[in-house]
Amino acid sequence: MRETITFILNNRVERVSGIAGDTTLLNWLRQTRRLTGSKEGCGEGDCGACTVVVARRDASGRTGWHPVNACIQFMGMLEGTSVTTIEGIRPEGPDAPALHPCQQVMVDRHGSQCGFCTPGFVMSMFAAWCNGSGLDEAGIDDTLAGNLCRCTGYRPIVDAASDLVVRDIQPPFEQRRRSREAELMDEIAHQDTVCLGDDRCRFIAPASAAEFAAGYAASPDATIVAGATDVGLWVTKQNRHMAKMIWTGRVAEFDGVTKSGAHWRIGPAVTHQAALQTLAAGRPDFAEVMRRFGSLQVRSSGTMCGNIANGSPIGDLPPMLIALAAEVELSGVSSNRRMALEDFFLDYGKQDRAAGEYVRALLVPVAAAPHFRAYKISKRFDQDISAVMGGFNISVSGGRITAARLAFGGMAATPKRAAMAEAALVGAPLDMTGFKAAAAALDDDFAPISDMRASAEYRRQVAANLILKYGMELTGTSVPRLTGPGAALSPDLLREGLA
Ligand SMILES: Cc1cc2nc3c(=O)[nH]c(=O)nc-3n(C[C@H](O)[C@H](O)[C@H](O)COP(=O)(O)OP(=O)(O)OC[C@H]3O[C@@H](n4cnc5c(N)ncnc54)[C@H](O)[C@@H]3O)c2cc1C
Ligand code: FES
Ligand code: FES
Repeated sequence: MRETITFILNNRVERVSGIAGDTTLLNWLRQTRRLTGSKEGCGEGDCGACTVVVARRDASGRTGWHPVNACIQFMGMLEGTSVTTIEGIRPEGPDAPALHPCQQVMVDRHGSQCGFCTPGFVMSMFAAWCNGSGLDEAGIDDTLAGNLCRCTGYRPIVDAASDLVVRDIQPPFEQRRRSREAELMDEIAHQDTVCLGDDRCRFIAPASAAEFAAGYAASPDATIVAGATDVGLWVTKQNRHMAKMIWTGRVAEFDGVTKSGAHWRIGPAVTHQAALQTLAAGRPDFAEVMRRFGSLQVRSSGTMCGNIANGSPIGDLPPMLIALAAEVELSGVSSNRRMALEDFFLDYGKQDRAAGEYVRALLVPVAAAPHFRAYKISKRFDQDISAVMGGFNISVSGGRITAARLAFGGMAATPKRAAMAEAALVGAPLDMTGFKAAAAALDDDFAPISDMRASAEYRRQVAANLILKYGMELTGTSVPRLTGPGAALSPDLLREGLA
């Protein structure tokens, strides 16, 4: 096992060893390398001031340039990658302009005032520019949604990003930078397991599934890390001490979405962004919830399996995947088992996972689900965690509902199906009768709690309304026009409108 990590920083090879395994990239850049262009705004993945670009090769060998929040990225996760910071985009060579095009547009459009957020915005644009996508009118807001600015207002920044579309996509200085980056990535590539750490914290990055399983079985107390969009915050916000971390991201067998019989098989290293295209095909509601899932930075690091494994009652994926009848596969050194996703969640913070077992894959049915819908209710429309999340799916035959899967997040201690509401739907004709009965039955399914995201009463009302809304969408019933604050939340008003 190598005790040194090797990666590229601004097109120079870096070899790092002997630092704590929970060191974040942002702290290392600023404190060790004195590269202070990447800023710390929030330290929890929200503001994007720390955005850097990490180039990685996917399972098929294609390079992607990913915007990443350096504040919640552990150093060990950089093995084999190429990191570019704001300092590293300066064009080089006799023909090079003083500023990179992604910087120049911000100057031209007055996109910067105090400048604190500016490096992060520039790096988000730089990632899109390298990938050749996300700078068209439809994509810019999503490209920049993970970057917050308190001074300028977003108009000039969006204008700046829009200008990039018409610029030369690959000027010679950029071609040189990229071919050097590719050469260096080839040069540092290897298949060894690596470890970065000191006596306080060790970060292990196994290179194969067998080594991962053996390493985890030998240290079942180790914390599994995937994208670190949850675990990173345990370190930066909760000061939690983890003596050992074991990372899924370097295992080649863990990457990639493959077709396995009737399912899409999603490995533990597959990020939300990587899975999106496959899973969202033909499921527009799935696509929209994923678009609203964190930011591009979060989706580029965070994994589908991490969102399941964390067992959060307010994760966005569980209700949608339960509605789609997804399954989860668990593995240990000599065990492998599979279960319906809803059975994985036992209680708050408790999943059906034995010591030494890890989530090996998510299995999502390939079959079209024409009656699938998903609704995310959050205080802020974009970039927020759900207060209530609903994933619904029914089967219909001969004008009657023959099966129903209504799954909710935010309504109980775990993501959970609404058994009584489902029973009210099955056998009902495909009109509003069954949906009204299902909405009424929800009180027998859930006793939600009040917390910072929503009151119990709000949750109850909105969950019932979502079932009515679902029914209206499927039956083509017009949605009654409701006015006044909170009107859209009242099931009584909705029922009145439907009467
Ligand atoms: C700014 C921000 C916005 C966010 N927005 C959303 C949002 O809109 N919706 C939402 O649902 N979540 C959101 N999250 C939470 C987080 O991004 C997701 O839960 C994400 O999917 C976690 O995946 P990860 O790969 O980063 O997991 P990690 O942080 O690496 O791990 C999460 C947990 O799962 C465990 N784990 C990971 N992989 C495995 C495995 N293979 N087997 C067993 N255990 C494993 C870890 O030990 C840990 O307990 C947000 C987070 C941030 C920082
Ligand atoms: S400092 Fe805010 S996202 Fe990293
Ligand atoms: S320019 Fe000041 S925070 Fe954006």
